[in-house]
Amino acid sequence: MPQRLVIGNWKLHLTAAEAVALASAVAEGLGGFEWDPARVGVGIAPSYPFLVPVGQAIGGADARVDLVAQACHPEPQGAFTGAVSVEQLASVGVRRVIVGHSERRRVFGVDDPQVTRTVNRVLGAGLSAVACVGETLAERDSGRAREVVLGQLDAVLEGVKGSALGRLIVAYEPVWAIGTGQVATPAQAGEVHGWIHERLASFDPNGSQVPVLYGGSVKPGNIAELASTPGIDGALVGGASLEAESFLKIVQGVLKAS
Ligand code: PGA
Repeated sequence: MPQRLVIGNWKLHLTAAEAVALASAVAEGLGGFEWDPARVGVGIAPSYPFLVPVGQAIGGADARVDLVAQACHPEPQGAFTGAVSVEQLASVGVRRVIVGHSERRRVFGVDDPQVTRTVNRVLGAGLSAVACVGETLAERDSGRAREVVLGQLDAVLEGVKGSALGRLIVAYEPVWAIGTGQVATPAQAGEVHGWIHERLASFDPNGSQVPVLYGGSVKPGNIAELASTPGIDGALVGGASLEAESFLKIVQGVLKAS
């Protein structure tokens, strides 16, 4: 069984003080119930400027909660104004990096070749990559969901070398479900997770151990059903990760289903 995980993607939200307060509340809340990170890993992804204080708030290098970055640039250094490298992220204690989120693809022009290079750099630096794939509503409606998702997954896998696969996490995030309140039904999500698991297993004998998370309007009210759907190994949570209470309920939901 792949590891189960819940990752909160805070996107462009919160001030420094709010981010630290939320991180502390999450870490404290996790201590309030029987949470075992080996059963369900938990990560939080604040904006770049808050990685250091948030990392401290969750316990520094020994933290049981993973510090996650929302993106990174594939180049290690150089004249890339505004960019942040995986080496820089590693140097402040980041353990995982989200790569190819649909908002990065749509708003910032990140394409499949860049996703390949970034996955390669993140895994090569010894960090874990949370690689996002997902179709738009137009692509789904025209019957192209499978082709689009597996095409994006192939670009991700092109960046994976050998045992680095053990540090890969895939997130299926249908673009039409992100921030819209329109969650994919367990049947819709389960079908796509099946395609992804199948492709991972044919890519490598260890591919069956790669966790595949669902993301897109995950809430405390729908996590039980999603987490008990075969092939869904956890959640990448946007809006509902901005309040400790709802995020903790989602973690509990995944714990119960595991
Ligand atoms: P959402 O975002 O939970 O707000 O839909 C999910 C994501 O973009 O990771």
